[in-house]
Parts: sequence; C-alpha cells; structure tokens
Amino acid sequence: MVKIVIQKKIRDFNRIIKVDSDKSLSIRSLLIGSQSFGLCKIKNLSKSGDIISTVEGLKKLGIKIVFKSKYCYVYGNGLNGFDYKKNISINAGNSGTFARLILGLLVKSPNAIKLVGDKSLSKRDFRRITAPLKQFGANFKTNSHSLPLKIIGSDYLKPINYYEDKGSAQCKSSVLFAGLNTPGKTIVKAKKSRDHTELFLKYLKLPIKVIKKNKYDIIEIFGEKQFKSFNYFVPGDVSSSAFFIVLTLLLKNSKLTIKNVNINPTRTGFIKIINKMGGKVKFINKREICGEIIADIFVKSQKKFKSINCPVSLNSNAIDEFLIIFLLASKASGVSSFKKLDELNKKESPRLKLASKILKKMGVKNILSKDSIKIFGNPNLSINKEILINNYCKDHRIFMTSVIASLCFGGKWVINDRDSHKSSFPSFLRILRKLGHKF
Ligand code: S3P
Repeated sequence: MVKIVIQKKIRDFNRIIKVDSDKSLSIRSLLIGSQSFGLCKIKNLSKSGDIISTVEGLKKLGIKIVFKSKYCYVYGNGLNGFDYKKNISINAGNSGTFARLILGLLVKSPNAIKLVGDKSLSKRDFRRITAPLKQFGANFKTNSHSLPLKIIGSDYLKPINYYEDKGSAQCKSSVLFAGLNTPGKTIVKAKKSRDHTELFLKYLKLPIKVIKKNKYDIIEIFGEKQFKSFNYFVPGDVSSSAFFIVLTLLLKNSKLTIKNVNINPTRTGFIKIINKMGGKVKFINKREICGEIIADIFVKSQKKFKSINCPVSLNSNAIDEFLIIFLLASKASGVSSFKKLDELNKKESPRLKLASKILKKMGVKNILSKDSIKIFGNPNLSINKEILINNYCKDHRIFMTSVIASLCFGGKWVINDRDSHKSSFPSFLRILRKLGHKF
C-alpha cells in the first residue's frame, strides 16, 4: 500500500491539457468490436486498469487484440463468436461496466464461464443484471447476489420487454447486448441514463430505434443481425475532466482548456450543475465524431459560488461527478442540497457515506440521510490540519477528489493507495505535475 502525502496547495496556472480517453466508450468499442466481423481499428483507446481487464477478458474468450502505436486492433468474430476453453474464469478487476456488459454478450455461450472481480467489485449487487438476463433464458450459478458467479448461456433465447427503473446505463446496455444476440425484438423502457450504447449501435447502422420520452426512453433492438468491423475514435473522458474543471474553478487566477472531450449531454449534467452554481464552463469547437459530440472545454477561476438545490432530474447525468461537485458546494455561500442519490452508495465504494465523512474531516458541516446530503458551504474554507484518507475501497474517484481538495484547500493530506486512480485515469498525477505541482 503506497500512500501519497500532499502538503502544499497548487499554484495558479494557464494551460491547455488532454485527459485520458473515455472509459465508457473504450469498453464499449472493445466489446462491440468483438461482436463484429473483421478487423476493427480503434484510435486512442484508454490505457486504464478497467480497459486492461476488458482486453484480458476478451482475449480469454478467443478475441485477438493487438496494440500498435495509437491504435488498438480488435479481430471481431461475429455475434456469438466467442471461442474459449472449458472452465475459464474472467477477472473483471475493478470494472463494474465490463463485468455487467460482458454478461449481456454471454447469454448464448454454452459452456459455463466464471466471472470474478476485485474486493470492491465483489461487494456490488449483480441481481440488477442476472434478473433480466434470466428472462432471456441465461442461467446463473452464484452463492450470493454478487461475484463470483457463473453464467451458462442458452441456445433457446427469447427476446424480452424490460423496464430499467434505476437509471443505470450498465443494466440498460447489458440488456441491449443480450438483445443483440437474441432473435427477434427486445424492448427496453429505460429511465434516462448515458446513451453511449444506443449511439454506438446507431453509428454502426444496426437495427435499433430509440423513442425519447420526458423521463425515460423506449429502445427497440432487433437481434442476430451480423455486422461488419469498423473504425472508431475514443475522445477524452468528461468525468476525468471534471476534476480539473473544479480545480481550476476553485483556484484564484487560473485558466484551463481541455482538448477533445466527449460532451454527450447524458454525461454533462455536472456542467449544468456547476454553471447553475456560478461556474461559467464553456464548450468550444463542437463537432461530431463516430456518433458522439466532442468539444474543447474552457474554464477559468471564479470568485463566488452559489449553493444549489440540485434538481433530481440531473442525477443520472452527473452520477460519477457528485464527489467533485460536493467540493464546490463546500466553498459556496449557503446550504446545498442533493437528493435521491441512493445509486451513489452502490458504486466502487459507498460514495455518499464516504463523502460525508471526508467533508467532516475537512471541517465542512453536512447532514447525511439515507439517500441525500445537505452541505453547509463556507466561502472562506481553508484547512490547516492533517487529514488521513484510508479505508475507501481504493475508489478511484474518492482518491482523485481528495487530491483536488488538498490542492485547493490546503492542510496536510495523507491518502493511502496512490495507485487507485489508475482504474480510470492513469495520467491524473502526471497532468497535475504538468500544471506545475511537485508531489
Ligand atoms: C457506466 C455507467 C454508470 C457509471 C459507470 C460507467 C457505463 O454506472 O457510474 O462509471 O459505462 O455504462 P451505472 O449504470 O451503475 O449507473
């Protein structure tokens, strides 16, 4: 367990940076590539731990994957084309997205496949995936509701009509992937969540139809339609950008441009929240690449922030960024309120509970209830004590939020498990060094 010790705030900066490639799109490009026929060429794939787990998992399923300079080549074997030995075990590491999405692609694989994960992933509930996949006809063996589990696919799959009521893109995508491998029309009524899978399948011109309603989408997919390999470009990760956006906002006199970031509206709820609080984050040079919207993000420091009564309708579009938004709320004038965030406690760690504890350590008054938090902001927030961050299930977003807090508010921070950030954003500390900080 290697820790990091931070004792100094970061100095102001005026820079242009790039963040690591998007995690959700990297995982989807590999998984969808594995289902195509022929050679896929993916540019700019993320090199984070979750993507390494995805590559290793697909290799065990007989998919050839080769890296050459900026490109990743995936030799797709077609729908239901996995070719694997008996009794294999796939290790999803820390990646909930890979673990949940791959199950959707295995509904027709005849021999049992074991799926395992690290300590944090093994605590997460997989009933949200096994329940709909059982309806298709897949079978599962598990001693609990979580990993490890075994999936045994079926040759007699039937399409389903499913209501995804949690606003979980992982559930929605897993069901869509199962639908892709099942004859007939699968219909998903899904509470709003990130729509990368739908956009990707549309980009490939697969038979998928999305009807957008106010609070949910209806998605129809026709399965068993083989498709050709493709070229894909993975843009920068907006969730990784969030740490640098808030860092810049909270400093005194800084400016930052982040190049080539995916700004899909189902991912940028946090920017709406930040701008409502007085953030003034801007998108420049917007364009479309491979079915997704890309832009450069421009942000500069702001002197004052307003508290917010955060609209629940933004929750699922900002789900990965609440920790960093809580830092902004800590510095806002007034009391901010965030409600109906029960999904936040089901992530790599119980994030809502841990956020409340860390804010208290920072001297930020907050009131936590089962699924909500009220944060009493202090525009003069400054920390002069030692803060230890440990026992946080190595949650990458807790680690990075803690580093940003230390660099903005001061104090001496000792944060355990300094490699935690590598599951989503391996360049995080390197970029901070580029911005002028010496660790
Ligand atoms: C993801 C979906 C979200 C998100 C995760 C990535 C995805 O999880 O938190 O980091 O790529 O589909 P849920 O579907 O559990 O909300």
